[in-house]
Amino acid sequence: MINQSALYEKGETKKLEEFVNRIERGEKIEADDWMPEDYRKQLIKLIAMHGISEIMGAFPEKEWVPRTPTLKRKLSLMAKVQDEVGHGQLLLRVAEDLMKPLGKTREDILQDLYAGRLKFHNVFHMPTPSWADAALIGWLVDGAAIVTQKMLAHTSYAPYARALKRIILEERFHAYHGEDMVIALGDGTELQREMMQDALNRWWPALMMFFGPPENGEIQSNQTVNMRYRIRSKTNEELRQEFIDKYVPQIRALGLKVPDDNIYYDKEKEQWVYTHPDYNYLKNVIGKNQGPRSQNRLKLRRIGFENNAWVREALLHKQKAVNESGV
Ligand SMILES: [Fe+2]
Ligand SMILES: [Fe+2]
Repeated sequence: MINQSALYEKGETKKLEEFVNRIERGEKIEADDWMPEDYRKQLIKLIAMHGISEIMGAFPEKEWVPRTPTLKRKLSLMAKVQDEVGHGQLLLRVAEDLMKPLGKTREDILQDLYAGRLKFHNVFHMPTPSWADAALIGWLVDGAAIVTQKMLAHTSYAPYARALKRIILEERFHAYHGEDMVIALGDGTELQREMMQDALNRWWPALMMFFGPPENGEIQSNQTVNMRYRIRSKTNEELRQEFIDKYVPQIRALGLKVPDDNIYYDKEKEQWVYTHPDYNYLKNVIGKNQGPRSQNRLKLRRIGFENNAWVREALLHKQKAVNESGV
């Protein structure tokens, strides 16, 4: 909620009014513009989690880079993994600019991740036991990300909107890459089709949870602030429905079965009616990093961070020398 009394004490109610008016006129906010504390806080939370999820999202597919069935698949998968890390880099820079007035850096975001204070997306805690998992991630996880990011690209915070425009172009390539793999498996042998169906069965609850639980309690208050400030324009439920309506027909067209015995199409509402997953599962997976691969991937990320510390130190040392020489 917007803390009006705290703002009043600081004599900033006028500024807040002007800020809200700017947003309502459809203007975008830049990093150096005045912004209320809760706007900054919500953006940091959202963008840091998004950036970290891009980086942690490279791990499930990275596991398949050495084992791709063909060279063509290896090149395409490697390009995708590199893109995801690049998205993380871009977004953490956006988050870092927002954190500057608070005296925090990008390294603090990473330390928060290692200490379990910063969460990453539920889907990236999941295992990828078969090649069909890599295909499914490209097709449906990136597909779900596109649904969310297309909405966020209209956000009121200009640096995030600009970063997202570039990211979405690459996410579309990822989705085509995933579709191509899924179609190849769907057109393949009985065993390949079974592998694809098995991956879909395992990933379905995680995909349903991708958009977050239905709005209530703390989540509702976060969303109220996000909606009021036009950081986002759709609820979790609206995004999930959009995903279901787009992909259920595609899943069926590929000859796969949607792993929901009760799903049906409501002709009047012109939408699919589906079974909600157990959202409590999210509390342990995201909240406590207790997903099947959470700890393993966090450990790998931490080792990479520690092993590459000398590179960061060398670059800082070089930058300091350049600054001191005045060149
Ligand atoms: Fe990405
Ligand atoms: Fe992607």
